[in-house]
Amino acid sequence: MSTFNDKFLIVGGNELYGEVDVQTSKNAVLPILAGSILCDKPIVIKDVPNILDVHNMFAILRDLGVKLECDKDCVIDASDITNFTLNQDLCKTLRSSIFLLGPLLARFKRAVISFPGGCDIGNRPIDLHLNGLQKLGVKITNRHSQICCDGRGMKSGIVQLDFPSVGATENLMMSAMFLKGTTKLINVAKEPEVVDLQNFLNSMGASISGAGTAEITINGVNNLHSTQYAPIDDRIVAGTLMIATAITGGKIKLKHTNFKNNQSLIAKLSSVGCQIDIKRDNIYITSKGRLNSVDLIDTQVYPGFPTDMQAQMMSLQAVSNGVSIICENVFENRYKHAKELIKMGADIILRDRVAVVKGVAELNGAPVDATDLRAGAGLVLAGLKANGYTTINNVYHIDRGYENFENILKDLGADIKRV
Ligand code: EPU
Repeated sequence: MSTFNDKFLIVGGNELYGEVDVQTSKNAVLPILAGSILCDKPIVIKDVPNILDVHNMFAILRDLGVKLECDKDCVIDASDITNFTLNQDLCKTLRSSIFLLGPLLARFKRAVISFPGGCDIGNRPIDLHLNGLQKLGVKITNRHSQICCDGRGMKSGIVQLDFPSVGATENLMMSAMFLKGTTKLINVAKEPEVVDLQNFLNSMGASISGAGTAEITINGVNNLHSTQYAPIDDRIVAGTLMIATAITGGKIKLKHTNFKNNQSLIAKLSSVGCQIDIKRDNIYITSKGRLNSVDLIDTQVYPGFPTDMQAQMMSLQAVSNGVSIICENVFENRYKHAKELIKMGADIILRDRVAVVKGVAELNGAPVDATDLRAGAGLVLAGLKANGYTTINNVYHIDRGYENFENILKDLGADIKRV
């Protein structure tokens, strides 16, 4: 795993050719790991990615008393949880620590958590999680910057979310698993990772339906059983590699990836001249020469264009032919990469949630900072295209979500190394 001082050194200009087996989805596996503690029998999660966020989640689980054995597959034994207070320092490392709140309340009717950390891309409050839990009868008090939750009075009910938050949907789904009767969650997130969590929970004996639509129904069950589960592939990693090929030129094959989860990106890249072919669970992408700009990239909840691909698309627009307008509607502070791209010669004007990107013929390598996970990935893509040397600092942000990123790119022909 990475250290805080790791950097990527990139010499731009190489096209990408070859094939990649797409890793398991970070945003599917993190709530699934948290959900594993709902069951008091061993659970096996297949192909868990070797990324920093997963290691941070392991540390939090171990601190609760969970036994973990991990190689590629991970055996989780939560039969002996002795602690219901999440370690404050560990929570700061990981936004997804919040996912443990629902499972702890469901199984033990109590939990003490801290405000979670994670990528600095906006305020990222947790009010939707807490308001939803209160609707289900959880009593919540704040003490010394910790949130104490008492779930002894929990009852099934109806929760209407003000916004279809992915994390709140997942947390509420897990919290209601054992409540007698039926719980309905309305205006929920429809992301593929929510569907995957439902499938995982049902594979342990839960009775949940509706994920992928705006309404989820949870019929309480009394107990769960062991399961083996393989989470979905990472649509954002697949998308990042598609944009990498679009920007450098070349042809790559992405294996074991569900194109249906990447339709909004495929539509945009096809519209500006990339050739994309789908054969079963493989995506082939070919890019030749300079692409035209995408007129408008408006980030939205699924199935709209994902906020997690906005930074990578900005790098592509920075060298495309024409002007692109990007509107970041999901997070209010997710443009830190723009300042770094400007250091490389990009022409970008920012106003609040809107970025106007005028494509330039060339970027020039420069030392830049990865300010968060996807910003870092976007800068790597810019470095692959830029003239000369680019140094990316703080690559631990990238290691949070991309497994073996530099070696995958190197195998495709990129000149990139970690120092
Ligand atoms: N929000 C609230 N209150 C809440 C929760 C969310 O106001 O209680 C707001 C957020 O501040 C944000 C918006 O709602 O403006 C969307 O947040 P959401 O809860 O949907 O996001 P999340 O669950 O924190 C997950 C992914 C993110 C991804 C978003 C949106 C995981 C572990 N993280 O975050 O992934 O960007 O959904 O799709 O699933 C990433 O992988 O780089 C990443 C940041």
